[in-house]
Amino acid sequence: MGYADLLAGPGTERGLIGPREIPRLWDRHILNCAVVADPVTGLIPSGCVVADVGSGAGLPGLVWALARPDISVVLVEPLLRRATFLTEAIIELELTARVQVVRARAEDLPGTPGWAGVDVVTARAVAPMEKLVGWTLPLTRPGGTLLALKGASAQEEVDGARAVLAAAGVVEVEVLTLGAGVVDPLTTVVVARTSPAQ
Ligand SMILES: C[S@@+](CC[C@H](N)C(=O)[O-])C[C@H]1O[C@@H](n2cnc3c(N)ncnc32)[C@H](O)[C@@H]1O
Repeated sequence: MGYADLLAGPGTERGLIGPREIPRLWDRHILNCAVVADPVTGLIPSGCVVADVGSGAGLPGLVWALARPDISVVLVEPLLRRATFLTEAIIELELTARVQVVRARAEDLPGTPGWAGVDVVTARAVAPMEKLVGWTLPLTRPGGTLLALKGASAQEEVDGARAVLAAAGVVEVEVLTLGAGVVDPLTTVVVARTSPAQ
């Protein structure tokens, strides 16, 4: 079974995806995430480790892992029902060599034994920017990047979170729209880069 079938079948039956989403699984969800992982964007370097915070049914983490065999992905999800779905999905999709599921709240992870830090952290539909910065950037190594998949209000959220971003060591922020000719509406991504010397 492929990922889209997992979402439409078990994902819907277990309440991870609403039944009304089934007709728009590809454009609203899978492709909306996939356009960020296109190597032409340069946003996800080859060989990097990515953490997807609040992965839910695997968006964007599982889409990125499927699209990019050159990266490793940690799916961070606190809810048992969702973490169980993700664990079963990585087995079904034969991704266990490069993808792991960590059942935890993101803010509890830094400093825990075994948490080595990641290069890129992402989140989609998880929390407002101000809260997200505190949950995600502590999971990265110095020089790490946050790729937050946001809606139309992304720039406003960034403007409201300037102080929090600076306090987290962010030295560069941009709001990108991606996926022209592939998705409508376009995918909006906030890219927040920290200093390597952080
Ligand atoms: C609206 S869902 C979005 C799921 C997925 N990213 C998507 O785009 O479909 C938000 C997810 O964030 C998770 N979440 C909430 N608080 C969290 C936290 N503190 N740390 C990690 N995940 C969290 C929830 O359990 C839920 O799965």
